[in-house]
Amino acid sequence: MDRRRVEWHGLRPFHLGRLCGDARGRRRRTGAQRDDTYRLVCGAFDLDAERGRDFGTKIGVAADRCYGDYKELIAMEAGREDGVEVVSIATPNFTHYEITKACLEAGLHVICEKPLFFTVAECDEVAKLAEEKGLIVGVSYGFTGHPLVHQMAAMVRKGMLGEIRIVDMQYSHGFNSGDDVGAGEAVKWRTNPKTAGPTFVLGDIGTHLYYLSEVVLPHLKIEKLLCDRKAFIPTRAPLEDHATVLMHYDNGARGRLWVSSVDAGNMGSQRYRFVGSKASIEWSDAHPDQLIYEVQGEPNRILHHGMPYLEEESLAADRMGALHTEGLGDSWANIYLWIAQAIDAKRRGDEAFLRSHHYPGIKAGTGGVRWLENCVRSADAGAAWIDFK
Ligand SMILES: NC(=O)c1ccc[n+]([C@@H]2O[C@H](COP(=O)([O-])OP(=O)(O)OC[C@H]3O[C@@H](n4cnc5c(N)ncnc54)[C@H](O)[C@@H]3O)[C@@H](O)[C@H]2O)c1
Repeated sequence: MDRRRVEWHGLRPFHLGRLCGDARGRRRRTGAQRDDTYRLVCGAFDLDAERGRDFGTKIGVAADRCYGDYKELIAMEAGREDGVEVVSIATPNFTHYEITKACLEAGLHVICEKPLFFTVAECDEVAKLAEEKGLIVGVSYGFTGHPLVHQMAAMVRKGMLGEIRIVDMQYSHGFNSGDDVGAGEAVKWRTNPKTAGPTFVLGDIGTHLYYLSEVVLPHLKIEKLLCDRKAFIPTRAPLEDHATVLMHYDNGARGRLWVSSVDAGNMGSQRYRFVGSKASIEWSDAHPDQLIYEVQGEPNRILHHGMPYLEEESLAADRMGALHTEGLGDSWANIYLWIAQAIDAKRRGDEAFLRSHHYPGIKAGTGGVRWLENCVRSADAGAAWIDFK
């Protein structure tokens, strides 16, 4: 990695509080602490306070700062000189809006999981509140911290692909192929509209695809969209465990993506292919260190992360160097670092830095929710083409 990016900022570690943190929360927690930009000082780690305290103390949080819920955390930390400054929210979707608002009201920055909230109206309201309070809301679109994602963005921007024609994306796994009899809590809340929101897999994994395409193709806007969604396991209806979305972009490009949690046998795969008039690029999480670059009429090339022939913004996000594998943990650490830099700039009132700084903020979270609203509108109209609003 370009170490200057980490060292110049001179950030002192922000005091971080976590809402929830089991094994699944590990990559965010370790990502957050990788650069010493955050120090985990407190949390509400479980719905069961006792179990949460047990977990919190095991990972080094003082017992008296392991709280029963977010309300207690906010109230108790407010009185401390070394109190929490940033809260990372990794609870089920239906809690995001309420907890984010409460944190902002208490003067705390937020890093929230996706899908950010249920509606664009909620996103707009919270964006206004964050603006008024001078606080940052970051969103954990973890995959977009990978250096080769930024290589793709740079290549598109430099015109190396020509005019973009085709956007093809997939994120699927087979972990929900069977029925939900005896399913755990994480499946139960994901398949219930009251706790998951208006979508299951579209929000759970589709928003990652959508946001990554926004990072790579910021100049393309969706004009029309058609979403066809289905619950192969009928108890999940009206939510979907599989969906296909077709998109028309304002430059005439065509997009297709599919998301599924019933792709039986698939242990989890993301694949992105961006096709232009001159060349194509393809990246997948199965081989995250490699970017396939295909120029029409020339031998195909495989670009490797960390190599000096890559663009500056890709090298700036590289942590391991070319000889070693750059993985999801590194990508996650970048997202937390970039949000810490945004928080630091906000505190210093450095709006110029914020304007040029790239990180998934509330606009990115709102974009995902807007895309979901359009997908649901199209699916509910019988998989009809609709204007993207
Ligand atoms: N960015 C990513 O790649 C990624 C990956 C997985 C999950 N997520 C998101 O993280 C969030 C949590 O997902 P998960 O898979 O960790 O869920 P989970 O069910 O495994 O864990 C949720 C945790 O929240 C707690 N909890 C449940 N109800 C609560 C409530 N009402 N108030 C406070 N805490 C409550 C539970 O005790 C549990 O510890 C979701 O929004 C999900 O979309 C994001």
